[in-house]
Amino acid sequence: MLEKFSNWKAKLQNKKVETNNIENVPKHVAIIMDGNGRWAKRRGLPRIAGHREGMNVINKVVKQANLLGVEVLTLYAFSTENWKRPKNEVDFLMRLPERYLSVELPKLVEENVRVRLMGCKDSLPSHTIAAVDDAIEKTKHNTGLVLNFALNYGSRDEIVTAIQNIAQEAVNGNIKPNEITDTIIAQHLMTKELRDPDLLIRTSGEIRLSNFMLWQLAYTEFWFTDVLWPDFNEQHFLEAINIYQQRARRYGGI
Ligand code: IPE
Ligand code: IPE
Ligand code: MG
Repeated sequence: MLEKFSNWKAKLQNKKVETNNIENVPKHVAIIMDGNGRWAKRRGLPRIAGHREGMNVINKVVKQANLLGVEVLTLYAFSTENWKRPKNEVDFLMRLPERYLSVELPKLVEENVRVRLMGCKDSLPSHTIAAVDDAIEKTKHNTGLVLNFALNYGSRDEIVTAIQNIAQEAVNGNIKPNEITDTIIAQHLMTKELRDPDLLIRTSGEIRLSNFMLWQLAYTEFWFTDVLWPDFNEQHFLEAINIYQQRARRYGGI
């Protein structure tokens, strides 16, 4: 532990960032990466320029999370509602995983990061699935940070599917209605082998969940910032963690 501590400290100091308490780092951080469109608009650029810039931020946050010892980083990249956007924007967003992974995958492999996908694969283009599947395959034995991409993810869809599957198991006689517990429900969600997020970050000043992890966020600490996602950096991430560390999590107790 001490060795790990001095490692972190040294690395953090090199990067000129500081955290108060490395013992109480949130194990699962979930981020709603919002504000790419507004970032671009303020510069008179097309929205896709904001998405391109936003993609570069992922790197910084992944590195920082890994350094701090965060176990799971969930990134909301595309919601089930984002299909409503203009076709050229959707097409661009669906190319982002390939763009990101074509450059970053070797580093993720090296940095012991394990890539994971959370979302409905059915309506994703095959080129998007191929890129993500390749990353999942190449990082499947890694034991460090789990990088969980929420892609075509919607929490209500996730819950509906879970209920349909449990109902089918009941019809098949494998479970009785009174045997359905919150643990059983959690085991049917797309996060089944992950712990619930400890910290949720949303950028861009929007104070809402936009259909993100409604079940899993029951006791998560929330941190909102006006910073637009393309402007988000390591310092903001540390600020969120520092604030998290000052919160008292009571889970209904005292
Ligand atoms: C977040 O940025 C990225 C995605 C939702 C894919 P937005 O594209 O929502 O940016 P704003 O909210 O319009 O500024
Ligand atoms: C949430 O952001 C989805 C992602 C960040 C991927 P949106 O920009 O889609 O959310 P709303 O529409 O403002 O609620
Ligand atoms: Mg938005």
